[in-house]
Amino acid sequence: MLIRPRRLRYNPAIRRLVRETELTVNDLIYPLFIMEGENQKVAIPSMPDCYRYSLDLLLKEVVNAYNLGINAIALFPLIAEDKKDNFGRESYNPDGLVPRAVKAIKKEVPEIIIITDVALDPFSIYGHDGIVEDGKILNDETLEVLVKMSLSQAAAGANFVAPSDMMDGRVGAIRRALDAAGYLDVGILAYTAKYASAYYGPFRDALESAPKFGDKKTYQMDGANSREALREASLDITEGADIIMVKPALAYLDIIRRLRDSSHLPVAAYNVSGEYAMIKAAAKQGWIDEKSLILETLTSMKRAGADLILTYFAADVALLTSSPP
Ligand code: PBG
Repeated sequence: MLIRPRRLRYNPAIRRLVRETELTVNDLIYPLFIMEGENQKVAIPSMPDCYRYSLDLLLKEVVNAYNLGINAIALFPLIAEDKKDNFGRESYNPDGLVPRAVKAIKKEVPEIIIITDVALDPFSIYGHDGIVEDGKILNDETLEVLVKMSLSQAAAGANFVAPSDMMDGRVGAIRRALDAAGYLDVGILAYTAKYASAYYGPFRDALESAPKFGDKKTYQMDGANSREALREASLDITEGADIIMVKPALAYLDIIRRLRDSSHLPVAAYNVSGEYAMIKAAAKQGWIDEKSLILETLTSMKRAGADLILTYFAADVALLTSSPP
């Protein structure tokens, strides 16, 4: 007798019955780029079909996303050059772009979960995630700015703050400050295992936030390491993170699996700008089938153990998964 695994692949119905992993819009977070001005929807050349939105048009995109079933968005601001400094002061301006965006969205779509990024880079003249002194990125001085930024985002109505800076001790510092100010319901989505990656290039184009000197390797992790990710995870969990994240996703599926197996918190994966751009670029050449590749790629992240996925493909996935395959 021959053992025949193909019996379980016989037709779409049996394949659906035995499928182990389901990609659903419920698990997606949609990152959005925002900018000043009115009636602006500006293309990002290295991220085809992604745009920077002024707040009026952002609201339309958020309503559209919510109607597609997307539960959460993450906001990333393009900051004017004349508002940048070494200390990221604009990042905690209560009337800054991010707090205004959060308030406007909360008014229009109160149910959607808003996640705000906590890091200095879009606000820094040096494009680094912390304060710079003599070519070094200062840790403890930067924590003070991250705390102020988080408080201003919480005051505006953010549901989660998401420190993406990789300074030591930031999750604990932010949690204590949020608690002391009474923001007990504001959560922390921690960029726990954030690697120093060339996959962030298109994102830095979108925000004009590329580092002006050096690289981010003194704070973002070395792509050769995985035990270090477990160490970062245990720190973030002890310091009070609600969700831990691995970033990038595709080249780090093993890290997603290790964090999933070793912790009880939800694990998020960030399908980053470079991963998005690679699919878009190959699809534009006609070299791959875009829709299939989006689903296959994001499903691999779920299979690796991701509970949530941040992806610029969120709206595409909502449409692609709304009817049976
Ligand atoms: C900022 C930040 C970055 C990304 C998210 N938050 C860029 C960086 O660290 O240089 C990258 C996201 C993407 O590439 O899609 N700290």
